[in-house]
Amino acid sequence: TCPYQAKAEPTPTPELPLPMRRNGFDPTPELLALRDQERISRTTTPFGETAWLITRYEDVKTALSEPTLFSNAGPVPGFDQASDAQRAVATGNLLTYDPPDHTRLRRMLTGQFTVRRMRDLTPRVEQIVESHLQAMERRGAPTDLVADFALPVPSLVICELLGVPWDERDEFLHRSNKQMDLRLPEQERLTLLAELHGYLAGLVARARRDPGDDLLGLLIREHSTDLTTEELTGIALLLLVAGHETTANMLALGTLALLRHPDQLALVRDDPAAVNPAVEELMRWLSVVHTGVQRTAATDFEFAGVRMRAGDAVVLAFPSANRDHALVDDPDRLDITRGAPGHLGFGHGVHHCLGAPLARLEMRVAFPALLRRFPTLALAKPDDEIAFRSYNAVYGLESLPVTW
Ligand code: HEM
Repeated sequence: TCPYQAKAEPTPTPELPLPMRRNGFDPTPELLALRDQERISRTTTPFGETAWLITRYEDVKTALSEPTLFSNAGPVPGFDQASDAQRAVATGNLLTYDPPDHTRLRRMLTGQFTVRRMRDLTPRVEQIVESHLQAMERRGAPTDLVADFALPVPSLVICELLGVPWDERDEFLHRSNKQMDLRLPEQERLTLLAELHGYLAGLVARARRDPGDDLLGLLIREHSTDLTTEELTGIALLLLVAGHETTANMLALGTLALLRHPDQLALVRDDPAAVNPAVEELMRWLSVVHTGVQRTAATDFEFAGVRMRAGDAVVLAFPSANRDHALVDDPDRLDITRGAPGHLGFGHGVHHCLGAPLARLEMRVAFPALLRRFPTLALAKPDDEIAFRSYNAVYGLESLPVTW
């Protein structure tokens, strides 16, 4: 080849919408074919933008490790970039910052997710899980595991973190569930988000006057002068949005996955040592953040053989990366004993899920408690009638009718 030839411009391949699962657990054949055939391709995001699509494990991990090239400070997908609402929502949201601003905020928060803090929270999580299992038992089978267990447990854990008063919890949870529905028109979602933001601003103001023993109160005691009220409100909103639907859908999908693999379900139920590796393998195998994450090229640079230009949108696809042979052997098989070290279910790099210790705690408590309370847990509907929920950034189930 001619050494003076200009670098090849990216091939203008047709832009397919991101090929996402509509049902079942496996990534779509289209997404896997893209991964196996090309290192990088073009796609359109769920918000209709054109973006680079990175699908392989090593490439996704490399991109996540390079925040100076792949920035989080670009436009937030799905929002009107110039609006006040967008600015308000981005303030304090770690996911919209790059180092060194990101480092400053994140350092203040990591103290709230330490081993010690998780130990302190364990009895509360156990209590929340147990009270929901008891209520299910009282009401009797069949029941919807999503509405009665998977959704309320993580929601109440977030309420604990934020110190949402008991009598405000129903209203708060109703609003936060509604806000996450991507089927709603953008304007309506923005309004709901602004309302939630307003509610949380009130919560922060109350906590500033009288800090409690919850995460928000502790954060204020330790960093009241380092964090503005806007930043604290944004942090509260982020914890809610990032920690609620993700964990809920892991509980629902994880239970269905185990029901479809009875030998592995029995291990989680009967062997207390099985749950930790099981949670990691379920995180890998399910990739609940199924749209992956988005970054913006911070400058012009070359990656995977193409030239990216400053401002280009980039999608990093978790479902294909987590099912890559470069990560584990026989990647499409669920094997809860392998633990899947290095999976990308919680992301990687500086934005690696801050709440991962809490999500792990919730899952490690919830799965065995559910399976021990109802050792004969089974689907109350034919398997092929289970309705998946694919329109949100987090993959999940509409409902999971179970009996025992
Ligand atoms: C970030 C997944 C639970 C709080 C992330 C990221 C992923 C993720 C993939 C990285 C996003 C990116 O790089 O752009 C999950 C999953 C969860 C879960 C699958 C449940 C199983 C939680 C919980 C909380 C939480 C329970 C808090 C209560 C956060 C925060 C970030 C984050 C604050 C942003 C971190 C940063 O930008 O530095 N999560 N998450 N997550 N998650 Fe989670």
